[in-house]
Amino acid sequence: MRLTRTSLPDAQISKTRPLAIPDISMIGAPVAVVGDGAGICRVNRAFTELTGFFEPELKGTPVVFMLKDFKPGKSALRGKSALAAKNGHDIPVSYSISSMPGSLFQVFTIIPRVEAEKLLKELSEKQSELERRERYIECFREGVLKMTNDLDRSETELKGALRNLQETQVQLIQSSKMTALGELSASLVHEISQPLTVIRGLTHGMLRTTDENAEYHSKIRIIGDAAARMEKIVKHLRTFSRSEAPALYPLDINSVVKDALLILNDHLLSHSIETVLDLSPVPLALGNPNRLEQVIINLVTNARDAMPNGGVLTMSTRDEAMDGRRLIRLMVKDSGIGIPEEIIDRVFDPFFTTKDTGKGTGLGLSISLGIVREHKGEIKIESTRGFGTAFHVIIPALS
Ligand SMILES: Nc1ncnc2c1ncn2[C@@H]1O[C@H](COP(=O)(O)OP(=O)(O)O)[C@@H](O)[C@H]1O
Ligand SMILES: [Mg+2]
Repeated sequence: MRLTRTSLPDAQISKTRPLAIPDISMIGAPVAVVGDGAGICRVNRAFTELTGFFEPELKGTPVVFMLKDFKPGKSALRGKSALAAKNGHDIPVSYSISSMPGSLFQVFTIIPRVEAEKLLKELSEKQSELERRERYIECFREGVLKMTNDLDRSETELKGALRNLQETQVQLIQSSKMTALGELSASLVHEISQPLTVIRGLTHGMLRTTDENAEYHSKIRIIGDAAARMEKIVKHLRTFSRSEAPALYPLDINSVVKDALLILNDHLLSHSIETVLDLSPVPLALGNPNRLEQVIINLVTNARDAMPNGGVLTMSTRDEAMDGRRLIRLMVKDSGIGIPEEIIDRVFDPFFTTKDTGKGTGLGLSISLGIVREHKGEIKIESTRGFGTAFHVIIPALS
């Protein structure tokens, strides 16, 4: 029996006979090449092995003859059916009839159902395995992301801790240096004060009783001036070596600034220094007025020295808040020579001075820092070489 043209959808039937029948010997699955009239032109080895027919027996046979459950129509291009094998057995198969790319022939592919089901099962297993792996990779990715974030966070924390440690170390060195120097100063002050008083008293008396034109008068004056300078240093050292904490009580820093200026004003004017006072209302602080006044005097004296040809001294106070704490900021700013960057880290060191011998003791800033720390505060410096320096004394407000 020959298959009529109307038994298969039009799309499946080649209108013209192609020149060469495609080679299908390399295809592993059972396939047949179908030509014009839906007749088989060629089968591969898997096809003959499955069906038991040799190629010459199949040639020209419409493929649908082999499919027992074939029903014509559009959906006939693929489906499930029983395939008639040579030995009279029916083999359950899945089949498809599709165009061959670049050819007018069609290809008839059959897969035994057992195998198709096995393949399907394998496919679905592979798919679930793939999904499982995808889920695993997603979890892994999330884990890595979280780990990276954690790592970033701990790195920041570690850096912060290291910074704190370094600061504490610097403070520790500073405070042990100060303690050692304090003890040393206390004994020095004790040893020096006595003979110094004697020298000062004697030179004073000698100057009074010697004629101004006498040979030794000027030399005695030099001794007296040197002793006066030494007394100044001893006075500094005395404050420095005072180990007991000063009495602290609520005070207004603005009035401490005003009191200090009463002492300093004339002095500043005589050095052609104009003072700009910019005081804001500030909360009370727990402090010792004499000690804070000393800080101001030290800072103003340094400002004066930084402006040998005169200039502007600005003093301001501000009420500030930082990290939920209320602070008082006192600024002492000059328009002087500025502090070179290479020494800015050393200016608080005891006995560090850039001034000529006899002019600087190198104790002003280290004493000031000690006092400000007693007030639980800190000192910050801003300086531009050639333009001036601002010292910021920051003290917590009384809460
Ligand atoms: N306002 C300032 N301008 C420039 N340099 C300053 C200023 N204040 C301090 N310095 C520098 O810091 C050094 C240390 O100051 P200080 O401890 O007061 O000691 P001294 O004034 O006796 O030198 C000074 O010698 C100076 O080099
Ligand atoms: Mg000084």
